[in-house]
Amino acid sequence: MNVLMVASECARLAKTGGLADVVGALPAALAPLGIKCRTVLPAYASLQPLVGKGRQVASFGDLPGGPGRLVQVTAHGIDLLLLDAPQLFDRPGQPYTSPKGNDWPDNHLRFGALAQAAARIGLDGLGGWKPDVVHAHDWQAALVPVYLKQADRPAPKSVLTIHNIAFQGRFGGQVLGELGLRADWFHPDGLEYFGDLGFLKGGLVFADRVTTVSPTYAREILTPKFGMGLEGVLQARGAALSGILNGIDTNAWNPAADPALARGFDARSPGRKAQSRPAVAARLGLDPDHCGPLFCVISRLTHQKGLDALADTIPQLVAGGGQLAVLGTGEPELEAAFVDAAAEYPGKVGTLIGYDEGFAHLMQGGSDAIVIPSRFEPCGLTQLYGLRYGTLPVVARTGGLADTVIDANAAATATGCATGFVFDDVSPAGIAAVLDRVFNAYGNRKQWQAMQRAAMRQPVGWQQSAQAYARLYQALAG
Ligand code: ADP
Ligand code: GLC
Repeated sequence: MNVLMVASECARLAKTGGLADVVGALPAALAPLGIKCRTVLPAYASLQPLVGKGRQVASFGDLPGGPGRLVQVTAHGIDLLLLDAPQLFDRPGQPYTSPKGNDWPDNHLRFGALAQAAARIGLDGLGGWKPDVVHAHDWQAALVPVYLKQADRPAPKSVLTIHNIAFQGRFGGQVLGELGLRADWFHPDGLEYFGDLGFLKGGLVFADRVTTVSPTYAREILTPKFGMGLEGVLQARGAALSGILNGIDTNAWNPAADPALARGFDARSPGRKAQSRPAVAARLGLDPDHCGPLFCVISRLTHQKGLDALADTIPQLVAGGGQLAVLGTGEPELEAAFVDAAAEYPGKVGTLIGYDEGFAHLMQGGSDAIVIPSRFEPCGLTQLYGLRYGTLPVVARTGGLADTVIDANAAATATGCATGFVFDDVSPAGIAAVLDRVFNAYGNRKQWQAMQRAAMRQPVGWQQSAQAYARLYQALAG
């Protein structure tokens, strides 16, 4: 079984969030099941050195936004097909934004080109290789199923995975022609989304199957509260929609052999986490002799993540004897709120505004708990890293957070299966209430360590979910 993955991010190559982690880990998880993946990814400026090491395997004269070529190269075990179109991708800045932080004005062309190049591989193959299934991720790849369907000739089946329905790729309808899309499909049952062209909308209509990254989020997005305007389209897809939980790369995130940690540990030795704490404290200016729980946040600082409510709960967190370590970038007001809190509570709150993969590992290693008060969370990966590192997740009951953390209620605690703290009310009062529960549990060392062991033993790898994807591909390809 051959699968062509299409995405705008891939771990260790281009990353803004969890999408990259999933796209980077899935091929290796599927390989033992007899599924061979190739991954189409834009050749961003940072990937140009890799392009130089690769081999051209296809060229296209007329993609949206001009010509492009595919360069095959293997990196980190992933069989990559880099879409090299310098006029679209070889620029400074982030995958979607300019150095000033604005969306690139030609994002429709950039990701239209990505989708069209991938669809052509699907339709024509590549040097005799043909995918049985094309698996597109998020809005940036969502036109792949549309291009496959409009070619109107034998094509591989398509799967579209929604990692976050908040990002939909919405552009003025006038770009339809530039993208080579069929004008007669521009209606509410096709590509049109409230008068505009919707990349994700089109993909949801035309993909053979739609998945999202947790069973709970698959149900939530059928409702107006979570569907962000696409709930009707999703309801219409009925049984074509399902939720498959993300796993994590348990080699990249292995507390027993993580080079970022002061000392490795496993479920038998969570006490050794304490040896990584001084390095976290030193980097963030936290009091190294503090003896209460160290909470951490490793996140995009956005409304989705509910961190405004956490910022308002810092007085209670500190008064209860906690410390807070924050690593993130995002909305300026949220960045400012955590920078100000660090100034107001020296030694108790430490904030690093920035993106630092190695420090994220060290924080998971040295912290006691990770707080994720998301308003919605399709899956969430940092709670899974927290489980694996015995850093107990404190999470809102939504999406994948609800599916992966077992709340320390009386029954779960008594039976030894609790792995974290789950709460319903994303507000300062709701967070203060759950923090009280965390402080109580932390005060009972036996209970805390039992929870750490249960957390670290919870399977969070890809095994089960890779099988679910394999079954899905097999059902589609026949
Ligand atoms: P989302 O994709 O919505 O941002 P996830 O929890 O699925 O949320 O994935 C976030 C990923 O990005 C995790 O791998 C997390 O460790 C990482 N991450 C987020 N912010 C930072 C940061 N400032 N520095 C390093 N890693 C970060
Ligand atoms: C999105 C979601 C996050 C999920 C990630 C990977 O960025 O916000 O919840 O874990 O994609 O699927």
